[in-house]
Amino acid sequence: MDYEAAFARAVAVLKTERRYRVFTDLARQAGRFPQAVNHSNPAKPEVVVWCSNDYLGMGQHPAVLEAMAEAARRYGAGAGGTRNISGTHHPLVELEAELAGLHGKPAALVFSSGYVANDTALATLGRLLPGAVIISDQLNHASMIAGIRRSGADCRIFRHNDLGHLEELLKSEPADRPKIVAFESVYSMDGDIAPIPAIVRLAEAHGAMTYLDEVHAVGMYGPHGGGVAERDGVMDRVTVIQGTLGKAFGVVGGYVAGSASFVDAIRGHAPGFIFTTALPPAVAAAALASIRIVRSQESLRVRHRERVARLKAALKDAGIATMPSDSHIVPVMIGESALCTEVGRLLLEQHGIYVQPINYPTVPRGGERLRLTPSPLHDDAMIEHLVSALTQVWQELRLGRAA
Ligand SMILES: Cc1ncc(COP(=O)(O)O)c(C=O)c1O
Repeated sequence: MDYEAAFARAVAVLKTERRYRVFTDLARQAGRFPQAVNHSNPAKPEVVVWCSNDYLGMGQHPAVLEAMAEAARRYGAGAGGTRNISGTHHPLVELEAELAGLHGKPAALVFSSGYVANDTALATLGRLLPGAVIISDQLNHASMIAGIRRSGADCRIFRHNDLGHLEELLKSEPADRPKIVAFESVYSMDGDIAPIPAIVRLAEAHGAMTYLDEVHAVGMYGPHGGGVAERDGVMDRVTVIQGTLGKAFGVVGGYVAGSASFVDAIRGHAPGFIFTTALPPAVAAAALASIRIVRSQESLRVRHRERVARLKAALKDAGIATMPSDSHIVPVMIGESALCTEVGRLLLEQHGIYVQPINYPTVPRGGERLRLTPSPLHDDAMIEHLVSALTQVWQELRLGRAA
């Protein structure tokens, strides 16, 4: 076997399909977010980042940085083990209590990332409920799909946010069969939001439990940042809420929140939880500080919504069509991978604006797009600069404008 040739062929496929990924070597500047230094282009190093998932800029909040530094000084760098073998440290225990409180649930469990949380919790859930069927939204994230596949449970897919189709699938299952409806609140590529109360009503009517990924919504929606389920007043009726510490909370890690027995069962059965070193104390302490600030400061969310509205209005005025997003995510459809990559390159090289082109397989072929994520720290001048840069790129590449 010529291993090197096999790897080279795999890379060649990506290049032929124009979806070979080039990473931009950025240095985020604490205290200057959303500005960063681009080490990939020493000739024009200053960039403004317009595609970060550090939605509220909490990754540079002084209290978060101080909590991280203080915990590292006090407890050291690493956790020292898996949760079972000496890795259950005090900041992590406090963090889980805070997360349970955020979602109004009796318990929460932290994982290395949101991906790992979905993958291992869903895989374990399917195995804990013999004969279960998982009814999954068509646009669920790769981490949910991975977990569902590994669960061994049967899977049915309902058309994206289609309540009629979900009801049909629920009705077609025997009443006593264990059923899990797995879905997201904010879909990160289209920026649309699931009708959570209606999905919960249907699940309840058919004896199904619900598993809701609020990765793009925690910290962002609801009076305390509990997510869209909090905003819509149904947090107590969703069986399991999954989230991340890496987006609005600005750190890293993932979690699930639910009943005490659910969390206890996952804690004892999920390989992706059991067989890996716990998050470091500094990370847990930083996430805890961040959640406490985000929970108590509705002003952050108010300012964020105002920035999002301002960007959407400015793009509309300039004739740059955005997809109809109900959320803080502002997708701009390009529809072709080479063109999308070229738009990203021109924005970066000519205008000092970093927006990562989103190509297949993150979105379907033909759905290539830019995904703009304004934060409370993107000021008016940055918005004007972005819109003017997009206008010039649109002219240069002769892209269509909205009426
Ligand atoms: C919907 C959704 N769920 C889960 C994840 C994984 O979260 P994390 O980045 O914390 O691993 C992502 C990542 O972007 C996501 O978009």
